[in-house]
Amino acid sequence: MEEMQLKQLLKKMTLEEKIGQTIQLSGEFFISEASEITGPMTEMHIDAERLKGVGSVLGVSGATAVIDIQTRHLKNNRLGIPLLFMADVIHGYQTIFPIPLGLASSWNLVLAEQTAEIAAREAAVAGLHVTFSPMADLVRDARWGRVMEATGEDAYLNALYARAFVRGYQGQDLLNDTTKVAACVKHFAAYGAPIAGREYNTVNMSERQLRELYLSAYQAAIDEGSKLVMTAFNTVDGVPATGNKWLMNQVLREEMKFNGVLISDWGAIGELVPHGVAADLKEAGDLAMNAGVDIEMMSAAYSGHLAELITEETLDLDLLDEAVLRILMLKNDLGLFEQPLRGADIQKEKAMIGSQEHRLAAQQAAEQSIVLLKNEGVLPLKVTQKIALLGPGATSKDILGNWSWKGKTEESVSLAEGLARCLPRENLLIDTSTDYFELSETQLKTAFKLAEQADVLVLALGETADMSGEAASRTNIQLPASQLHLLTELKKLNKPLVVTLYNGRPLDLTAVTAKADALVEAWFPGSQGGDALANILMGQVNPSGKLTMSFPRTLGQVPIYYNADNTGRPLTEANKDQRYVSKYYDSENSPLFPFGFGLSYSRFSYKTMQLSTTELSETEELTVRVHVKNDSSIEGTEIVQLYLRDKVGEVVRPVKELKRFERVTLSAGEEQEVCFTLQEKDLRYVHSDLTKRSDKGMFDIMVGTSSDTTQLQTITLL
Ligand code: BGC
Repeated sequence: MEEMQLKQLLKKMTLEEKIGQTIQLSGEFFISEASEITGPMTEMHIDAERLKGVGSVLGVSGATAVIDIQTRHLKNNRLGIPLLFMADVIHGYQTIFPIPLGLASSWNLVLAEQTAEIAAREAAVAGLHVTFSPMADLVRDARWGRVMEATGEDAYLNALYARAFVRGYQGQDLLNDTTKVAACVKHFAAYGAPIAGREYNTVNMSERQLRELYLSAYQAAIDEGSKLVMTAFNTVDGVPATGNKWLMNQVLREEMKFNGVLISDWGAIGELVPHGVAADLKEAGDLAMNAGVDIEMMSAAYSGHLAELITEETLDLDLLDEAVLRILMLKNDLGLFEQPLRGADIQKEKAMIGSQEHRLAAQQAAEQSIVLLKNEGVLPLKVTQKIALLGPGATSKDILGNWSWKGKTEESVSLAEGLARCLPRENLLIDTSTDYFELSETQLKTAFKLAEQADVLVLALGETADMSGEAASRTNIQLPASQLHLLTELKKLNKPLVVTLYNGRPLDLTAVTAKADALVEAWFPGSQGGDALANILMGQVNPSGKLTMSFPRTLGQVPIYYNADNTGRPLTEANKDQRYVSKYYDSENSPLFPFGFGLSYSRFSYKTMQLSTTELSETEELTVRVHVKNDSSIEGTEIVQLYLRDKVGEVVRPVKELKRFERVTLSAGEEQEVCFTLQEKDLRYVHSDLTKRSDKGMFDIMVGTSSDTTQLQTITLL
C-alpha cells in the first residue's frame, strides 16, 4: 500500500478503532473465541467487541495458533487491519544460541548477524512479525541480571553488534522476504545503568555521558533501520523514559531521526503512576502519548483513558493519528495487508525449526563464544586421559540461559553428552549426583570416589539460568558456597583441575582461579552447548573468545570497566605505595580478567606497530599496521585490538577506548599483517557543550591482545 492509502484508511477509522491499534495484549486474550469477560479483560478494559480492534499480540507463536488468531481477527475487524505478532526472540527462537554477552565474546559480527538471521527464520515461520531485540543497553554492573542480554561495556562494540543483529533480523527486503522479522531495539534509554545494579532502579547520569556512551548503540540500530524502539522502565534525569517528552520527542525522534514505532516496555505506561509522575492511569496515558509512545504493552492507560482524554480535548487527536499511522506503516512495511499470515507455515515450521543446519550454526556460535580464562598446561585434554566429570554442570541441560522461552531444555546437549562423543567410554567417569546449591556428605563422597580414579578432573560449575536475566540482580556474584566447597575439597587431591562455567554475568572468580589449573567460561551456550564445550576442552576447537565485560576481583570493585576516566590522582607503578592516590585499601584496582581478554591454545606475538604518520591532519587517514605471528604449532584465531587515548581533552577522557579490532586466523607459524585505519572523526567525543568534535593535540594509539596488554605510540592531531 502507498502512504496515501494508509492515510485514507486512517480517515475511515473511528476513535475506538484508532485506540485499538495502540493496544497490545498478551496471548491469553486471543487463545479462544472471546465470549466471556474474564478478570484480565476487565482490568484491561477489553471486551469481545473491543478485542476485534486490538492492534497487536505479544508472546504468541506457532504457525497454527497465529494462522488461527489472524484469520479469526480478520473476519471480525471492520476494516481488515491485520494483527501484528511480537515476541522476545533474544538469542534464538527454538534453536538457542549463546546468550548475547557470550556471543559478544566472539567479536564476530558476521556470526552475530547469522544467529539473528536464523532466529528470524524460525520466528517468522512460526508466525512472528517483530522481535523485541536487540538489547543495545551498555552495561557496567555485573550485579544487574540483564547484563546477559547485552553485548558488554563498550559503546563502539555495542553499536557494531546492534547493527549486525538488526541486519540479521530484518535483512535487505523486509517487505518481500517473509523469512525476516522487524527488529525492536531496546530499552531506550540507558536501562543498563540502574544504580547498584538493582533491577528497575533509578538511572542517574549526565546528559553528556548519556550522549557519549549510552545512545550510540541505539542510534546504530536505528541507522541500520530498526523498525521499532522500546522504552525503558527507568528514569532519565528524573523523568521515566516512557513519559519523557524530551527524550522521546527531541532526542529520539528529532535528533536520532527515528520515525518508526515506539512501544512501551511491559506495563511501563502504568508504572508512571508508582513512579510518581502521574496521579492515575489517565494522566499516565496522557504523558506517554505526549512522549510519542505508539503502542502500550500490557497496561491499561490507553485502552481505559485515551477516548476520554481526546473527547475532553486534553489530548490532541493529531497525536493519536500520528501514532496510528506509524503502526499502520509498520504493518504495511511487513506486507501484512497483502499477506496477513506472512511467513507462518505449518509444514515448513516442522521441517525447519531446530534443523540440523541451525543446530550446527548454534554450535559454531557457542564454540566462538567460549573464553579460556586460565590454562596452566592442562588443556586441551587427551583422549588417553581418564577424566572425571564432576559438579552440577556435568549433566545439566539448563544451559540455554534466560530468554529462551521456545528453546527445549530437554533437547540441549549437556557437557557429559558432548564429552561422551569425544572419549572412549572407559575414560569418562561422570558424576550425576551434584546440585547447584547443596552438597551433602554422600554427594561429596561420590565425587571423591570418581575423582580418585581419574587423571584429570573437570569440574563443571556455574549459575542456574534463572540467576541471571530480568529481575535477577545479585548482591553476591560468587558461585554458590556449596560449589566453592566442592572445589576446595577436590583440590586436595592434587590432580590437574579444570573448571568450566555456565553463567550469565561476570562473576567474582578470585577463589576459583586460585584453585583451578584451567578455567573455561562457557556462558549459557545454548542448544549445542555441551558439544561446543567438549570440543574446546578436547582441543578439537581452539578457543578464541575474549571478554566484552570486565570480571572483577571482588564485588566491591563493581562497576568496573576498562574505559574509565582518569582521576587527578591516578594509580601508577611509581606511586602504588602512597596512600592518597585513587586506589583501594584492600584490593588492587585492576579487574581479575580485563575487557578484551581471552586465551588460546596457540601463542601469538606482536611486532612493533608501524604508523603511516605521527601527525594527522583533519583530512588525512592514519594507517596502523602490526604484524601478528602464531608462534605455536596449531592454528588459532587472535582478536587484535586497537585502543586510543586522547591525552588532553576539554573534558576528562577515558584511559583507553576501543576503536578497531580484527579477528585473524593464523596457521601454525604463520605471520600476518593487520592493518587499521583511523580518521579525525574517530577521535571525536561529546564535549561539555554537547557537541561532538575532536581536540587537536596528542593521542596514544595502543594495539594488543586485550585492553590490558598493549603497545603504545603517540600521534598528534593537527
Ligand atoms: C522486558 C522486555 C521484554 C518485554 C516483553 C519486559 O519485562 O523488560 O525486554 O521485551 O518484557 O516480554
